[in-house]
Amino acid sequence: MAIGALTWNLSLYLSEFYQLRKQAWWRQLKRELKREFRDLDPNKMVYNMRGPYHVGSLAFGETPVLSVLKILDTLKLPAGATICDIGAGRGLPCLVAAALGYKTIGLEYFAVYTERSQRIAETMQVDATFVSGNFLYQPLPQADAYLVSATAFPEETRARLKLKLDEQAHILVAQDWILGPPWEHERMQKLPVSWGTAQFCYQRKTADCEANGGA
Ligand SMILES: C[S@@+](CC[C@H](N)C(=O)[O-])C[C@H]1O[C@@H](n2cnc3c(N)ncnc32)[C@H](O)[C@@H]1O
Repeated sequence: MAIGALTWNLSLYLSEFYQLRKQAWWRQLKRELKREFRDLDPNKMVYNMRGPYHVGSLAFGETPVLSVLKILDTLKLPAGATICDIGAGRGLPCLVAAALGYKTIGLEYFAVYTERSQRIAETMQVDATFVSGNFLYQPLPQADAYLVSATAFPEETRARLKLKLDEQAHILVAQDWILGPPWEHERMQKLPVSWGTAQFCYQRKTADCEANGGA
């Protein structure tokens, strides 16, 4: 790992440690992620991937715990609401939200991630379910709010995913992506991610559109 990335991730870890070290769920999450993923480097795996299975949107990156907490605090969803992370990676955002009492569903291309994330959810005894598959070719799970780390998604992936979100979603937090009508962009929040910072775009389906029964 480059020295810049190393120091950035170390600083993210230290601020988490300082703020969350007394939280049992945080200590357990860090321990289990380390244990489950010690033999699998997602960055390396994607980098080495070539050929027909490379769908062009698979770059790995992670939303750190403190950024997930900030997003949940901003969303202010009712207790027990369902959150779906589209492109769930190692499952960190879902596991954090589930540790706080939300019901979460992570949809992720790589089964090698989802099976490990599911084991972590079981160990932590939190309500998180992980499903593997390509989100472009399967129905999105039903949820009250959706998260999508779209920073590295090519335009074509965004266009196809938008059609699905237009049809089904009401509340969305998209990384570096403002969808446009029928979505109303409510606010933008710059937060740390594993590769630097990203703009988290909070969007809601417009009232007109909802009144007409969808997109
Ligand atoms: C930048 S990572 C974000 C992981 C997680 N959401 C987070 O914020 O920590 C994006 C994830 O989306 C997944 N992904 C990309 N395209 C996908 C697709 N078409 N179907 C399912 N997952 C996909 C990638 O494999 C990757 O794990």
